[in-house]
Amino acid sequence: MGRSETRHICQQCGHKALTWTGQCAGCGEWNTLAETRVGASGGRGAKRSAATASGPGPRPASPAVRPVVLREVATPAEARFETGIGELDRVLGGGLVAGSLVLLGGPPGIGKSTLTAMALGNLSAAGRGTLYVTGEESAAQVRMRAERLGDSALGVPVLAETALDEVIANIEAEHPDVCVIDSIQTMHGADGGGAPGSIGQVRESAGALMECGKRLGVAIVLVGHVTKEGAVAGPRVLEHLVDCVLLFDGERERSYRTIRALKNRFGATSEVGVFEMRSGGLSEVVDPSARFVGEATPAPGSCVLCAMEGTRPLLVEVQALVAPTEIVPPRRVVSGIDRNRLAMVLAVLSRYGGPKLGSADVFVSVAGGVRVEEPGADLAVALALASANSAEPLGGPEGGRVACFGEVGLSGELREVAHAERRVTEARKFGLTPVLGPRSAEPLVGLSAHRSIDSALRSVRGSSKAKQAA
Ligand code: TYD
Ligand code: MG
Repeated sequence: MGRSETRHICQQCGHKALTWTGQCAGCGEWNTLAETRVGASGGRGAKRSAATASGPGPRPASPAVRPVVLREVATPAEARFETGIGELDRVLGGGLVAGSLVLLGGPPGIGKSTLTAMALGNLSAAGRGTLYVTGEESAAQVRMRAERLGDSALGVPVLAETALDEVIANIEAEHPDVCVIDSIQTMHGADGGGAPGSIGQVRESAGALMECGKRLGVAIVLVGHVTKEGAVAGPRVLEHLVDCVLLFDGERERSYRTIRALKNRFGATSEVGVFEMRSGGLSEVVDPSARFVGEATPAPGSCVLCAMEGTRPLLVEVQALVAPTEIVPPRRVVSGIDRNRLAMVLAVLSRYGGPKLGSADVFVSVAGGVRVEEPGADLAVALALASANSAEPLGGPEGGRVACFGEVGLSGELREVAHAERRVTEARKFGLTPVLGPRSAEPLVGLSAHRSIDSALRSVRGSSKAKQAA
């Protein structure tokens, strides 16, 4: 029997320390160390580590396993289970791969349980074996949700259980094609140190489920709670373990949600799916550009941005409001864009021919609760701010609606961004003109190209003056 000891384990990165410190030496986070019992003997974990420990002893004469030349490695055709939710399948790279382990992270209330329940419903209606393990809600609560989602969701077997051994025994007995664990933070093993949701438990549970899934060829989706700041206990330490990390995100108060892959061993990580939460569950937004442009208002401070979400161009509305203030420093409030990029755009504007907003509160938001994380959004932010400041809507010479894209450099230049052609095409598809953007090596049809932010600003200012004169 080994001695039971305690360690202080960081709930962010898993770093182990002998004594408690305020800051983790592993990742630098504060107040993340939790005292955890480790090394108690007799459990499954102890047995596993004993089996893999390479203690001193006679080395075997010849190894039991040998390396294989890659060319000779057998590659079984990977079976995929389509979830029937187009946006989700696209982000996964064509459906769930048999035997894969997927982590679906997102803040509470975003719709993770709804999405997984819908996916299992579709799979079960298509004749696949499914299992929904709920550790957070009772079976009755899961049923109530399923009732809102329709008949197929009611055909999914549910198991309300948090004991890991029991869950694994059920997966072995049922042998489903796809199993959802909602959520990984509620699972607890018999011998893992710490309370459910602690790093030791999350890691042990995920490891045991992965082993079971790979052995039986069951695709397992682990639902994990992630806070706004990124990740807490669990999801982050699981990223290296799982095959695929999906992040379900959006503003809870608004109806639009996006799902993107942060890691995918079976597909691209650039794809993004857009959903809308409705009374009957999540519905796919197949043409988000049409939706967002339709909602855009040609008012002062509004500018359409041709963004890229993965391989798909997406038109979104960037809105700005500028209000004089006595407060020092003035407020800078953003939603959907990066605060630091706003600060940079404001500085460039004040230095290179744009409005000086040092004594004004500035609010910038991307309408619809969409988040745009690419530098290509800079020009739209700049134009929206200029328009808000002058209280004139952006307009083309013929009264058209302006769309734009482009990165703003620190010396006021407009820098090229990827997929210029696709962005221009998307904007023209919706009748937006002119489309302002950086000058590219090859001239693009329909692009009003500019070298500097100053030149882009003058072109839209000039057009609104021309309109007044007409
Ligand atoms: P849920 O899937 O439980 O979120 P999570 O598992 O990520 O915590 O549901 C999120 C919210 O969606 C919840 O507040 C209720 C709402 N909702 C709808 O608006 N329509 C629906 O059809 C369903 C099932 C839920
Ligand atoms: Mg849930």
